[in-house]
Amino acid sequence: CGIVGYVGPKPAAPILVDGLARLEYRGYDSAGVAVLAPQEIRLHRDVGRVRELEATLPKRFGGKVGIGHTRWATHGAPSERNAHPQLSADGRVAVVHNGIIDNAGPLRAELAADGVVFGSDTDTEVLAHLIARAAATTLEDAVLAALAQVDGTYGIAVADLDHPDRLVVARNGSPIIIGVGEREMHVASDAAALVRYTRQVVHLDDGELATVRADGYQTFTREARTTKTAITVDWSSGEYDKGSHEHFMRKEILEQPEAVRRCLRGRLDERFHTVRLGGLEMDAREAREFRRVKILGCGSAYYAGQVGAQFIEELARIPADAEPASEFRYRNPVIEKDTLYVAVSQSGETYDTLVAVQELKRKGGRVIGLVNVVGSSIARECDGGIYLHAGPEVAVASTKALTNMDVAFALLGIHLGRVRDVSPADGRRLLAAMQRLPEQIESIVADEEHLADVATRLAQAPSLFFVGRTRGYPVAREGAQKFKEISYRHAEAYQTSELKHGPLALVGPNLPTVAIVPDDELLERNVGALHEITARSGPLCVVTHDGVDLGVPAKDVITVPKSEPELDPLLLTIPLQILAYHAARTLGHDVDKPRNLAKSVTVE
Ligand code: G6P
Repeated sequence: CGIVGYVGPKPAAPILVDGLARLEYRGYDSAGVAVLAPQEIRLHRDVGRVRELEATLPKRFGGKVGIGHTRWATHGAPSERNAHPQLSADGRVAVVHNGIIDNAGPLRAELAADGVVFGSDTDTEVLAHLIARAAATTLEDAVLAALAQVDGTYGIAVADLDHPDRLVVARNGSPIIIGVGEREMHVASDAAALVRYTRQVVHLDDGELATVRADGYQTFTREARTTKTAITVDWSSGEYDKGSHEHFMRKEILEQPEAVRRCLRGRLDERFHTVRLGGLEMDAREAREFRRVKILGCGSAYYAGQVGAQFIEELARIPADAEPASEFRYRNPVIEKDTLYVAVSQSGETYDTLVAVQELKRKGGRVIGLVNVVGSSIARECDGGIYLHAGPEVAVASTKALTNMDVAFALLGIHLGRVRDVSPADGRRLLAAMQRLPEQIESIVADEEHLADVATRLAQAPSLFFVGRTRGYPVAREGAQKFKEISYRHAEAYQTSELKHGPLALVGPNLPTVAIVPDDELLERNVGALHEITARSGPLCVVTHDGVDLGVPAKDVITVPKSEPELDPLLLTIPLQILAYHAARTLGHDVDKPRNLAKSVTVE
């Protein structure tokens, strides 16, 4: 979900709606805005996309202070009445909220027993009533009093008719950012909504609140005032525009060579054939002491973690594995002092990953972050890390951020390897391979027309397999994930070696298999398994390296340039993004905003 707020000299509604459009990738089943007019709070909400909200917004909506929200339903079905902002019973307080109030049920029952009539099924409405009913003279005290009664997570923005010069915002587990302008202030859950207006932002910490007025802001906690300095966001508003592209996803796929260059910039040390990662805040002695690496992430970030684990284990010879962050924290894992924990996240706000990091830290684990969004919650929670520098990513299906996760893992692998037993010669070989990546990616995306043609055919099948082994397996998993999330076709990944132990039963003329077949030591074995597919008339699409003689009747062959064997997974992933993109496009789906999914899931 996304939050925006504005306090200043201009009409608030258009600014709020513009901000919401930029946050839409965080949730998009309903949206709404509320502004403070002299006598009333004006509210406008609608089911569906922000553009529908905009189209139905009354021309003269008025109000120079307001809040807005784009929602991805957790409590109550998507409907106008469940959309935010939510108002108090007297209509004087409006609240937008990200997160989940755990004790909303009992609080609701108490309020109802007291005569409050609820207008929605949301936990947010509870907050609006609690604030309006608090026995307090200032809005700040009313918000504090309300928050004292709730358990759960929130990022909130509150507008109150009785205090029309301000918004009060609060954060606990769900991000809130203040954008500092010239005689105007913005509020948002994500810098994406703000960069058009200001680059100066202030991130609230958990437990922190702020009063936001046109001429300034003041942060505080329950106990005391706090002092925060604004940081400068270096992403420009142009990067949030689609430009001439039909979809953000395609734009972001094409931006990958440049994104990789940014991630490498200043990090390759050609003198010592190693990688410099100042953000890790870790000296060579510390880097040598780890005996294990554990990577945590969700969704595609988890699959990038699997690629990363493979890199690190191969490059640095340290046992490494990846696990979904959401599972990790619930199984009471043993936290080891000599394990390096790595949290990986594009947004830096994924709740499951953030809480896993907090749990690790509570138990004394050392956690670094591989994060794209500078200053995000996970980035701030970690003990150092590697920023991905992919630039803003808007499409729900991650492409350039994912590729840069792979790049950052390769950098980490080389870095850890060179303080252990990777030779200078190997260091040089790997560095040279890293430098070739941007151009190699350029050549893969240049094959788009061919890939689109293959995708059109794959899109006809109701179900597909993606297979690969060792280095190719996480590639297959990510390929299947991307394909299913935007084309809505069933796509399942297996280790190629496991086909014969079960899935082969399904292979036939109607079930295509996309096989990842790098030109490495497993080539012959991979090809053997492919014969078993073609022998059963299974259509085959092979993703392999230039110059490989497969000797198998594959319907489609997609090739990528060869990197060093350890780094091959990175390039093999790129055509799979393009296949997924064109499959979804052919099927007429909303590529950038697939149904039921949000780009960043800030609730459990
Ligand atoms: C959501 C998105 C996925 C994404 C995952 C992790 O589930 O739909 O596409 O991979 O979150 O996001 P993160 O921002 O932590 O990388």
